[in-house]
Amino acid sequence: MRNSFISILMFTAILFMGCKQAEPKYIIGVSQCSEDIWRDWQNAEMRMEANFHEGVELRFTAAHDDSELQSSQIDSLVESGINLLIVAPNQLSSVSPAIDRAYDKGIPVIVFERKTDSRKYSAFVSADNYEMGHLMGEYIATQLGGKGQIMEVKGLKGSSPAEERYNGFHVALAAYPDIKVVAELQGDWTEPTAYQAVKNWKGDMNSIDLVFGHNDRSAIGARKAFEERGAKLPMFCGIDALPGPDGGIQQVRDSLLDASYIYPTHGDQLLQLALDILDGKEYPRETLFTSALVTRDNATVLLLESDEVVRQAHNLIKLQKKAASYLEQLSTQRIISLLALVLLALLALILV
Ligand code: FRU
Repeated sequence: MRNSFISILMFTAILFMGCKQAEPKYIIGVSQCSEDIWRDWQNAEMRMEANFHEGVELRFTAAHDDSELQSSQIDSLVESGINLLIVAPNQLSSVSPAIDRAYDKGIPVIVFERKTDSRKYSAFVSADNYEMGHLMGEYIATQLGGKGQIMEVKGLKGSSPAEERYNGFHVALAAYPDIKVVAELQGDWTEPTAYQAVKNWKGDMNSIDLVFGHNDRSAIGARKAFEERGAKLPMFCGIDALPGPDGGIQQVRDSLLDASYIYPTHGDQLLQLALDILDGKEYPRETLFTSALVTRDNATVLLLESDEVVRQAHNLIKLQKKAASYLEQLSTQRIISLLALVLLALLALILV
C-alpha cells in the first residue's frame, strides 16, 4: 500500500514536470544600434512574426548609438546562448570585432541595414542607401528648378547609411552646377543633435532654400531651429517615411516635411530569413529592399494605406494574445484533469 502510494506521487511529479514550458527551439539575439521609432517598429514586426513560429525566443538589446556598448551587448548575447545573431552595427568598423567573434564561434550572423567592414556574416539585408541619396538629390534638384542653396544635416559619422546617402546625394547634385550645398552639418540621426547643429550654424539662415536631413528626425530637428530663429522657412526633406502618428508620411501630409523616402523596416522578413538559415534552407546572401519617395502628391494615399496596415497589425496582435490566453487555459485545464485523475487513483487505492 505504502509503495503504491509513493509510486502515484512519483507519477504525479513526472506528469507535472512534463507540463513545464517547453525549451525554445531557437534563440535569436537582435542587437540594435539605437532605440527610436524606426527600430521600435522593426522590433514589433519581428516579435509578431516570431509568434507565428513555435519555439522561437527573441532577445533584444539596444546600444543607444554607442559602439562600445553594442560590442559588449553582442558578447553578452553570444554568452547567453543564442543560436543566431541579427545585428545593425552602429558604425562601419568599431563593432566589427564583436561581430567577428560571434561568427567565429559558429553563430550565423545577419547584418542588416548598416554595414560592417568585415566579410564575416551569413547574410546582409538593407535598402540601397546610395540610391536613396541619389534619388533624393535628383528630386531636390527638380524641386529647386536647378538653382539654390542647400543645408545638409548628415547622419552619424562612420555609419554606413550616412556615408552612402551623402555620396549618392552629392553625385546627383554634381549635375547641377547652380545648386550649392552651403552647409554640411554633422548630425547623429537624432532630432536634438540636428536641432543644436542648425542652431549653432553661423551662416545666413534666410539664404537657405532647402534642408536635406539624412533622416526625418534630423530634418524635423532642423525645422525646429529655423522656426525658433524666426527665419524664412526653406523646404525640408528627410528619409524614413515611417507610418503611424508622428511618422514621416504624416509629417509630409501635414507639410512639416516636403518629401521623405521610405526606409523599409521589414522585421518580419528579417526573422523569416533567420529561421531559413537556422533550418538549413537555401537563402540569399544579399537582399536589397526596394523603396519609394513620399511627396505631398502621394502622402495622403500612403498614409491611408499605412493606417490600414497598422490597424490590421493591431488586430493580429489582439488575435495572437487571445490564442496565447486560450493555450494557457488549456494547459491549466490539463493540470486540473491530471490532478483529478491522481486523486481518483488515490481514492481507488484507499478503497481497495
Ligand atoms: C533609425 C535610423 C533611421 C535612419 C537609419 C540609419 O535608428 O536612425 O532614422 O534612417 O537609422 O541607419
